[in-house]
Amino acid sequence: MIIKNVNLETVCGITSTLPDNTLPEIAFAGKSNVGKSSLINAVMNRKSLARTSAQPGKTQTINFYNINDAFYLVDLPGYGYAKANEAVKAQWGKMIERYLRSSKKLKAVFLLIDIRHEPSANDKQMYQWILYQGYHPIIIATKMDKLNRSQIPKAVKTVKQGLEAEKDAVVIPFSAQTKQGREEIYDLIDNLLAG
Ligand code: GTP
Ligand code: MG
Repeated sequence: MIIKNVNLETVCGITSTLPDNTLPEIAFAGKSNVGKSSLINAVMNRKSLARTSAQPGKTQTINFYNINDAFYLVDLPGYGYAKANEAVKAQWGKMIERYLRSSKKLKAVFLLIDIRHEPSANDKQMYQWILYQGYHPIIIATKMDKLNRSQIPKAVKTVKQGLEAEKDAVVIPFSAQTKQGREEIYDLIDNLLAG
């Protein structure tokens, strides 16, 4: 995959009408602070087009990045952000749900899990929900630079088992810092777009 041009084309808040895109979409879901926006920057080869923050709850809109006028990367707000009040959390949840349920062009959903942690109840729920919507979630174990190389296989296994993932589910360890795993993600996207 060669990234020629990228453009933040659509930003949707809680009350926005979702775009009726004609190009395929690939969405990135996961807990707040897991590294969704950072992964999207790494894939786009841009330092900070997608805004990131050490504070969870940075992305509060659904952002559609047009890549090469060929497809969209869709940055979703994180779930499980403890500081947001319940009403706000519920609204974000509904917005994400509405998007994943109604998009006609959604090709795949990547689910990001921090490689250092056991998946939470919310992560499991999201995994099941994505399955229920008819997608096979592609699991990304983020922040792999935080572990030693020798710790990674076991951590990947913990992520997969913790999610009660399908046997043949793909888990890709990734680091936005070192860009490890990026080629695998490009290959997956190429295959998704070709299929
Ligand atoms: P929300 O928008 O709040 O849902 O978060 P997000 O999932 O988009 O996370 P974001 O990309 O904003 O990253 C959160 C924090 O984790 C930032 O401080 C990033 O620099 C850091 N981070 C993201 N990816 C990595 C990674 O691969 N390695 C390391 N070490 N830090 C990372
Ligand atoms: Mg974000």
